[in-house]
Formats: sequence, structure tokens, C-alpha cells
Amino acid sequence: MNTLIQNGTVVTSTSTTKADVLIDGETIREVRAGIPAAGANVIDATGLYVIPGGIDCHTHLDMPFGGTTSADDFETGTRAAAFGGTTSLVDFAIQARGTRMRDALDTWWKKAEGRACIDYGLHMIVTDLGQCGLEDMDDMVREGVASFKLFMAYPNVLMVDDATIFKALSQTAKNGALICMHAENGSVIDVIVARAIAEGKTAPVYHALTRPTRAEAEAVHRAIAMSEIAGAPVYIVHLSSEDALNQVREARDRGVPAFAETCPQYLLLSIEELERPNFEGAKYVFTPPLREKQNLPKLWKGLKHDHLQVVSTDHCPFCFEDQKILGKDDFTKIPNGGPGIENRLQLMYHYGVNQDQLSLNRFVEITSTAPARIFGMYPRKGEIAAGSDADIVLWDPNAVYTISAKTHHMRVDYSMFEGYEVTGNARTVMSRGEVIVDRGQWLGKAGRGRYLRRAARGGAWK
Ligand code: URP
Ligand code: ZN
Ligand code: ZN
Repeated sequence: MNTLIQNGTVVTSTSTTKADVLIDGETIREVRAGIPAAGANVIDATGLYVIPGGIDCHTHLDMPFGGTTSADDFETGTRAAAFGGTTSLVDFAIQARGTRMRDALDTWWKKAEGRACIDYGLHMIVTDLGQCGLEDMDDMVREGVASFKLFMAYPNVLMVDDATIFKALSQTAKNGALICMHAENGSVIDVIVARAIAEGKTAPVYHALTRPTRAEAEAVHRAIAMSEIAGAPVYIVHLSSEDALNQVREARDRGVPAFAETCPQYLLLSIEELERPNFEGAKYVFTPPLREKQNLPKLWKGLKHDHLQVVSTDHCPFCFEDQKILGKDDFTKIPNGGPGIENRLQLMYHYGVNQDQLSLNRFVEITSTAPARIFGMYPRKGEIAAGSDADIVLWDPNAVYTISAKTHHMRVDYSMFEGYEVTGNARTVMSRGEVIVDRGQWLGKAGRGRYLRRAARGGAWK
């Protein structure tokens, strides 16, 4: 049976219109005013915005990291995402050093199989190009893994050298994939960290104090310069500071295809959070760290003016009680990462749209359409138009919601935004035509989410 969404306001990245949306099975069939109901199952969207489902292109579900594993798996993480209006995500498989990328892809497919509640794609984290790495990259692109993450941070764990980065960028110039860069100068940071530890500075706040914004800006500058030499675009992940943003803006002003995302935590929180008593600062230990307050308005401005293109979450949850505690006596042992997959749209709507930092269309663009384009999913995802997947959120702009670990669906024992009251929330969430969340009730099922084969030469190449 067809479904007809009636009486809503359809909001895309480019338009806001009173229109009905007709869904046939998994796909949007028609979008216009006055579509006759003719036997369709009707959903009344009076007073609601009809927006494309959110796309979170930076999550870490079931990821081994920092001597433990991120607390959400593909079931709990994708279900929590759906409650917040996110209907697709792109997670990261990790190539273990000395192994083939296909092994990592198989491992991550197994993690997702039978568990994913929404559609998911995968980036590949490259740790080693070895003998076959460049061939492996082409192999991954054929499998729909159209993007790779490389680390300029975490020496001896995930960091790769400039030669590896340059080779990988050069390979994408041929195969049309996109390099995502964790841009921080890990070697310099390691020296500063060692000095701090030697001086007995072990509290969580030293995680932030040992990672200067210049170390981020330098790496962003280097990553962009290498991408220019290679003739390939580059995408900077989780950009956190004005200093780093200036590097992206300068490159974009010169016409360089440099792209960047930031995350709600960098837009809304600052370094003071790491000074919370009773080791609670550890809840805010992730990388890059929270910055001084003056960075926040600069990031908002960057989003508004398209110096930043995407807001993702970098969702990488570790429970406070039994995981963050690993670093009780030494901040370097605190697992790096924070939860957020469920609250991205709520926070961006409330602090962006309600507080006049973003237009409604820009809100849709940075949370859905831009990630779909940049990561090779558009127009199947990120759009409300005939032929697109019926991944649709009925957004209630007046719903008042208080974020709390007591009520959230993420499998983690704290929220970085505990007690924040937001106005605007997902009322009904559809994934490929199926209502999976309605008025706070879970109607989906584990395993229904499908692997998304993403196209190379996506939006970053145009
Ligand atoms: O602290 C973070 N961001 N943890 C996840 C891994 C990464 O660097 O994205
Ligand atoms: Zn990273
Ligand atoms: Zn990450």
C-alpha cells in the first residue's frame, strides 16, 4: 500500500514548500500539493516539517579503541540514531596494520549484519599501505567504500606518515574516492603529553591543554597542501578550532576542493567541561579536544558561510563507570570519544535554527544533503524528491525535549548535554518507507538496515 504524507511543509536544502509526499514501497513517488489520497495510508503532518532523514557520516560503533570497545554496537547505536531523526550513517572499518582492507570490511559487515536498524555505509581507516594497499583502495571503491580516513594523530596506534598520506591522496586522484583526515600533528602532541606526564599533570583537563589549536591548524594546512599536490579533494573530520578553520577557509577561497565537518560538541561546549570535579571531566575527553569559548561563534559562522559543510557527531561512546575510569590516574589512558548520535538534529535545530544561526534549509543541508552529496549517496539519500529513498522525518518544531542519560537510547551511562532543554524534535521517522519511530515509540527492527554502496566521484569532485 502507498503512504501519503499530507498537510506538512516539505523542507529541503533549497526550498520550503507546502506539499504532500507520496511514497510507493521504499521510494518517494511524487512531491506536490494536492496529491489525492486514493487508497493510500495517510499520515497527517499538519504543523510539522517534512525533512530528509539525517545522515551522520562520522560514527564509531563497536570499535576497539583505547584498550576497550565503544559502548554502542550497530543495533543500539543505529536505533538511538533513528530516535533522533538520523536514518543513515557512515561508520569506520579499521584496517589492522599488516592486513588487507578486505579483512576489515568483512569484519565490519559482520558487526552490522543482523543488527543495523538503519542503512549504513563504511569508510576504511588506512593504517598501512604495505605492498597491496593501493590495490586494496581500488578494491574498496568497487565495494562502495568510497572514502578513507587517515590519521595524522595517535602515533604508534593509527597515525601514518606523510608519504602514506600522499600516496593515498594520489590514488584517490585516480579512483575518485575521498580522503577524510584526522588532522592534528600527533608527533608534536606526543612530546607535549610526555612533558605533562613527567610533571605529574595527569588530570583530564591536560588532555586538552596538551593539544594546541596550532597542532590542528598545522596538520590541516599540511593535509590540504598534500591534497593540492596530489590533485585530489580532501575532507577534514571533526574540525574543532578557529585556527584550523582559517586554513580551510583560506584554501576554499583559492578554489581548492577542501571540505570540513564539525560536531555539536565543538559548537556548544568548551574546555571548562574537562575541569569538572570527581574525574567527570573524562566524559569530555575526545580528540581533537574541546577548545576555548571564543572558538564557538567562529565555527557557527563557518557553518553559516559554507566554510564548514557538514555537522557529524564522531559518536564514539565509552561508559564513565567502567571505561573512562581506565584513565583515573593518567589522562592518556582515558578512552578518547564521546556519545552524540541521538542528539545531533535536536541540538542543531535548537541552537542553529531557533537561535538564528542557521536557516531551516541550511539545517537540512548540513545534517543530511551535504553528507549525502560529499559521500556519494545523493540523490538516493539526503533529498525529498521523486526517486529518492523514503527516508523521511516528520519534525515537530514545537516539541520540547530534555536531553538526559536517563531517557536516551544510546548504551552509555552519561550525556554530554545532560539537562539541555531543546525545542524541536523528530516525531515520526521513516526509513525506506517504513515507520521505525513514532512519538517516542520504537517500531523498527534490528537487521533491517542495509549496507550502502556509495559512489566514487561524489560531491567533493564536482
Ligand atoms: O576522540 C575521538 N574522536 N575518538 C574517535 C576516534 C577519532 O579520532 O575520530
Ligand atoms: Zn579522528
Ligand atoms: Zn571519529
